[in-house]
Amino acid sequence: MDTSDQWVRSRTGIAQRYVLRSGESLLEIACTASRTALERAGLSPKELDAVVVGTVSSEYGFPSFACQLQHRLGADSGAAFDVAAACSGFIYALSVADSMMRADGFERVLVVGADALSTMVDWRDRSTAVLFGDGAGAVVLVPDSGPRGVLGSLLRSAGNHWELLTVRSTGVRATLDAEARRRADDAIQMRGPELFRIAVRSMEEVTREVVTRAKLNIDDVSLIVPHQANLRIIQAVAERLGLPREKVFVNIERYGNTSAASVPIALDEALEQRLIKDNDLVLLNACGGGLTWGANLLRW
Ligand code: UT7
Repeated sequence: MDTSDQWVRSRTGIAQRYVLRSGESLLEIACTASRTALERAGLSPKELDAVVVGTVSSEYGFPSFACQLQHRLGADSGAAFDVAAACSGFIYALSVADSMMRADGFERVLVVGADALSTMVDWRDRSTAVLFGDGAGAVVLVPDSGPRGVLGSLLRSAGNHWELLTVRSTGVRATLDAEARRRADDAIQMRGPELFRIAVRSMEEVTREVVTRAKLNIDDVSLIVPHQANLRIIQAVAERLGLPREKVFVNIERYGNTSAASVPIALDEALEQRLIKDNDLVLLNACGGGLTWGANLLRW
């Protein structure tokens, strides 16, 4: 392919990625992430009321990824469903799960972001093939009578821009073993520069709005954990928000763009690096295909 390490690093910030090999399964990765989250929450899968997965990488058209994950975990009761919002999938799923808990009495909800967009690229298309990695991350939501939790979420979409980022067929399973993975006409097609401009603007706007609605200031936020699509997008949003570098978590250099998985993977690494303390205000944001974008404001 006519590209170079230097181009990819300087234009995107990506140095390394993980992609599924033939025979490997995104469900397995999501299962591992979910088990770890459940262990940390001190819960067994059977105690879950719901499994909500942000993904556009279900193995089949249906059943949903969430139902398959529920079964693999041995949960097998409660509700399980997918939320399809591409790279904003985890932000949307977290918001939906939080609303279910507030409105419908759900108590223990597993929220997962999982995607395998490497299975959907045309490996001859340098404008997309160098960007995407595969992965999964998970959190468990439980009720808390104190100040901790999701303080607010904002979800936005602009269907009029749907053609900026598309995959016009579905189903990871059918394509993982295919020789060329995808024919060019049903692989990911992306109008990167247009998407870049909208991503910067929309992530800035939604971040400001979710913080204002909570009657807080951007300066109150301890850490932003953004979707990792492009280092230059992350830096531009941070600059517009007037945030110093140390308040913006970045790990794109090691994972590339893992779509709905990128925010929970980054959140986990931020926790491992002890960048989040109890009672910190943490903000998650993303923009992706749909177009969709959104933010969650959390009191940790
Ligand atoms: O996850 C949510 C959705 N995704 C995004 O938000 C991604 C948003 N977009 C982007 O991150 C960037 O637009 C890209 C990384 C996709 C592309 O970077 P760019 O700086 O916008 O590059 P470009 O598309 O404007 O292309 C600049 C040049 C072009 O060459 P010419 O026409 O100037 O001669 C491209 O053909 O770079 C060329 N180019 C490459 N060169 C080497 C494009 N891709 C590559 C490549 N290697 N992989």
